Amino acid sequence: MTKVITYGTYDLLHQGHINLLRRAKELGDYLIVGVTSDSFDRGRGKLNVRNNVLERVEAVKATGYADEIIIEDYIGQKIDDIQKYNVDIFAIGSDWEGQFDYLNEFAKVVYLPRTEGVSSTMLRAETTNNVKVGIVGCGRVAHRFPGEANVVSGLSVTACYDLDATAMNSFADTFNTVKPCPTYEALLNEVDAVYIAAPHLAHYSCIKTALNARKHVLCETPMVLKGAEAKELFELAEQNDVVLMEANKTAHCPAFNHLMVMIKSGIIGEVVDIEASLSQLLDKSGREFDVNQAGGALFEQGSYPLLPIIRLMGCDYKNLNLYSRMENNVDIYTKGVLCYDKAVCSFKVGLGVKTEGNLVISGTKGYAYVPAPWWLTDYFELRYEDQNKNQKFFYKWDGPGLRYEIQEFISCVVNKRFSTARLRRRESICMAEIMQQFMERKNFMEI
Ligand code: CTP
Repeated sequence: MTKVITYGTYDLLHQGHINLLRRAKELGDYLIVGVTSDSFDRGRGKLNVRNNVLERVEAVKATGYADEIIIEDYIGQKIDDIQKYNVDIFAIGSDWEGQFDYLNEFAKVVYLPRTEGVSSTMLRAETTNNVKVGIVGCGRVAHRFPGEANVVSGLSVTACYDLDATAMNSFADTFNTVKPCPTYEALLNEVDAVYIAAPHLAHYSCIKTALNARKHVLCETPMVLKGAEAKELFELAEQNDVVLMEANKTAHCPAFNHLMVMIKSGIIGEVVDIEASLSQLLDKSGREFDVNQAGGALFEQGSYPLLPIIRLMGCDYKNLNLYSRMENNVDIYTKGVLCYDKAVCSFKVGLGVKTEGNLVISGTKGYAYVPAPWWLTDYFELRYEDQNKNQKFFYKWDGPGLRYEIQEFISCVVNKRFSTARLRRRESICMAEIMQQFMERKNFMEI
């Protein structure tokens, strides 16, 4: 008996897949089809797959060509499968020509003709509502957005606006499909949604104007610097039936989310202490050091270390004390200590002080250690008294990481979800309240 194996995602199963499976089956007597798992696809940067693994397996089964269906879940699995199932022929479409020659050592590799004119990518593009996104504020941060948006389906970046016309025109020159707009209102007329990367103090009014125009909003962190403003804006978004989301990229990072759910499941016991820090020494002439532009370490960086603390321990801390080293009225370093009923958490941020930038979550059974840059999580360890139980987890972090938050934002817009479990509205409000406490210098001490 000749055994053939082939692999694919088989999203939105189409004629190209069916032809390929038929041709693969004709090569032998028994066809094994490997269908990628959802996490494997995400791990290799395929973020747009529409059908989940069960739907894709069912679709392959329905073609009638597969004698056996298996799940592909890790790099290198093809070699294991070929040996495990005694496979004679490995078949794949000609778009992969040459890329699987290394398997010749284990089975005969056959590249089958690909069906022209159809692909899952094409079908996804045809069936997705295209959300038109405008960029507000064309500085350094905004420059990362169009490239990252390109790898997510369902949106296109069509327009931009900045008070500074030079910055706006240079942005439009760099990304030539993005149209510069003379006013914010003109931009809002062009788009369905905005990504706000304007200076912190402009966020509140930019968001409010966009929400009143019934546009969805993804706003860079810190979204606003007052709890009441955050609350008001979330209510306004809901009244106007649009999505408002704070763009905290760590909140959408797959590895960070995996760590959070593992800890919530009790893998290190009850959490008693969290220490999170982050620092970046910057040129002191920048806006980050300008008090009139809400500069300073807490506003600039605070949302990141606050995220694991609030996510794991919640918003009901008993008290929060802030200690800062100030220079020209901005904090170049801030340490915060939050006391909960049964835990104490602390964070450190620095623009003019360098700290070790790690995240340590201590529990009654063990602790999680995430080295710097933990906010771009791609690796963490769980450590225990018995070192034999220690575990290391590795993940892939693609690009500057905005793609994960863009994907979630577009998914919320398309599916009319007004809140994301990755960053709850109450969590954004809590962060804004902490920014406000600092601004009002409550429970504050200069060091
Ligand atoms: N395939 C094919 N003809 C097509 C599309 C896919 O023969 N028009 C083959 C691929 O070469 C592969 C298998 O079908 O052997 C599964 O491919 P998959 O990556 O799931 O399909 P695509 O449509 O190429 O998906 P995407 O656009 O997401 O890359």
